[in-house]
Amino acid sequence: MNRKYRKTVIAGNWKMNMTASEIKPFIEQLKENMPKTRACDVVLCTPAVMIPAMIKAGKEVKVAAGGQDVSKYEKGAYTGEVSATQLADIGTKYCIVGHSERRQYHHEDDMLVNAKARALLEKGIAPIICVGESLEQREAGVTMEYVAYQVKAALNGIDATQLRRCIIAYEPIWAIGTGKTATAEQAQEVCEGIRAVIRKIYGARPARAVSILYGGSMNAKNAAELLAQPDIDGGLIGGASLKPVDFATIIAASNQ
Ligand code: PGA
Repeated sequence: MNRKYRKTVIAGNWKMNMTASEIKPFIEQLKENMPKTRACDVVLCTPAVMIPAMIKAGKEVKVAAGGQDVSKYEKGAYTGEVSATQLADIGTKYCIVGHSERRQYHHEDDMLVNAKARALLEKGIAPIICVGESLEQREAGVTMEYVAYQVKAALNGIDATQLRRCIIAYEPIWAIGTGKTATAEQAQEVCEGIRAVIRKIYGARPARAVSILYGGSMNAKNAAELLAQPDIDGGLIGGASLKPVDFATIIAASNQ
């Protein structure tokens, strides 16, 4: 983290878990365990139908609501999709795009991720853009090249002003939901590399101001070490964000 230049963001990704009626008790427990003063922004990304309940329950404890996906289209005949306009209208502040589960199960490519990020930015929602290599890519030694390509493609056509609202989440696929966290050194190396890619495109100042999160089995035990790295500005947390005490511990770890 480097709070002098950028925000620390602790974001939970609930994936397709929990229900709207479970939000209030969750937030109450989180409140009980969370530090009173916080040096980070806290977000919980839920399925779209649960966002209004999260906004309502999260207000008092300053937990923002985020979506997990968005349509690249503005409106029209796209049954089942949710637009950035619709997310913005209910007060959504953040939205994940390009999560590896969407890339894998819904065949989302980098161009689509870029279109989704741009759709969100147009409506004033901060995209949390996920990138990360597979185990095969890491073993083949192409991690940085691959992640650099993903970052460049995702940011295509996004200007420096819009970049200020973007959050990048480095999530090595092999670390997601596996309990196998990247070491702090591995995570720092790639996050630093991502910042270098952004520096090349936008220059030193904008690159210095972008929050880059680590995601992939971040938990109450390993969060402090990961967050102590200079280029890791927070976390995108799946499993551990479903447990209020663990999530509160991660939030506390970001206070260091
Ligand atoms: P995990 O998920 O923390 O359960 O590994 C992270 C994510 O998928 O964003």
